[in-house]
Amino acid sequence: MRVLGIESSCDETGLAIYDTRGGLLAHALHSQVTMHEAYGGVVPELASRDHVRRVVPLARRVLAEAGLNFADLDGIAYTQGPGLAGALLVGASVANGLGFALGKPVVGVHHLEGHLLSPLLSDPAPGFPFVALLVSGGHSQLFEVAGVGRYRLLGDTLDDAAGEAFDKTAKLLGLPYPGGPALARLAGDGRSGAAKLPRPMLESRDLDMSFSGLKTAVLTLVRRETGPDGLSAQRRADIACEFQHAVVDVLVAKALAALRATGLSRLVVAGGVGANRELRARLAAAAAERRVEVFFPELEFCTDNGAMIALVGALRLAQSVPADYAFSVRPRWELASLEIPHAP
Ligand code: KG4
Ligand code: ZN
Repeated sequence: MRVLGIESSCDETGLAIYDTRGGLLAHALHSQVTMHEAYGGVVPELASRDHVRRVVPLARRVLAEAGLNFADLDGIAYTQGPGLAGALLVGASVANGLGFALGKPVVGVHHLEGHLLSPLLSDPAPGFPFVALLVSGGHSQLFEVAGVGRYRLLGDTLDDAAGEAFDKTAKLLGLPYPGGPALARLAGDGRSGAAKLPRPMLESRDLDMSFSGLKTAVLTLVRRETGPDGLSAQRRADIACEFQHAVVDVLVAKALAALRATGLSRLVVAGGVGANRELRARLAAAAAERRVEVFFPELEFCTDNGAMIALVGALRLAQSVPADYAFSVRPRWELASLEIPHAP
């Protein structure tokens, strides 16, 4: 089954074709980063308009790359939520319009299920069951994944997500949007231990997380230390370095606690913060010490992309085929509440 996937939940238009037999045949991405940069964050209306401009040319590009025509597709998948309503509607309407015109089934996919299963795009892919650490701009969650569609929420963030904390802290340190990667780069120039920040909920004995206090601690530190000439470049780098250590300490500790709690020995890391090099290195080292296998999606499949949506769409369409082209988007949608339709 060959499925075209369309991701348009935020500031990236991602298109891909996934084949249940041949794997990923083609993928393409347009990032709106330069467009939103001037505003210091994503402007939803501009995001939607740009998705409108990009989605069809990108669909043609992935088809050409895979040597296929629209008629060769067996189905179409789009991100149904969570995300920006207007941006989601672009993918949803293009997918349903295309499906209707081609007479092919269309399926709405949960964006986080895409992230959760994105390691299946890699070779070797992890087998089930596994613990998934899902760390994106909007979510910091731990799941026990027993199989496709079988997700048990183990721990959640009580306030800011890890990516959100990276983005907000980056702003506090005067870094441009998107903050996460910029802060990680600055942290590379920092000296370990030169600044001190808390590790929230490290000792909480549950699998929940909280990052808003950490961001406030950075704010307090920056306010206290900023003189008439601002903060020195070295001091900013030291704070970035300590902030990254603090987030990584918490994420590593919680991921290991989730493995202990479930008795599982496979860990999958997904979502944009999964691109963070310190997190990857620390988890890999911790896993090597404990006979735990850790899987990371390729860097390009950590952040938003169409490949993960095409993949989940293909898995879903192989199970059951939706009856009509009625559609809605779900800007707020908990993955734990996902109901998977099964073939009768
Ligand atoms: O999964 P994603 O692309 O989009 C969402 O679904 O939210 O994640 C985006 C988040 C942003 O908060 C971004 O700052 C963060 O992932 N991010 C990073 C890195 N690359 C992206 N955070 C830390 N280090 C990185 N290298
Ligand atoms: Zn995402």
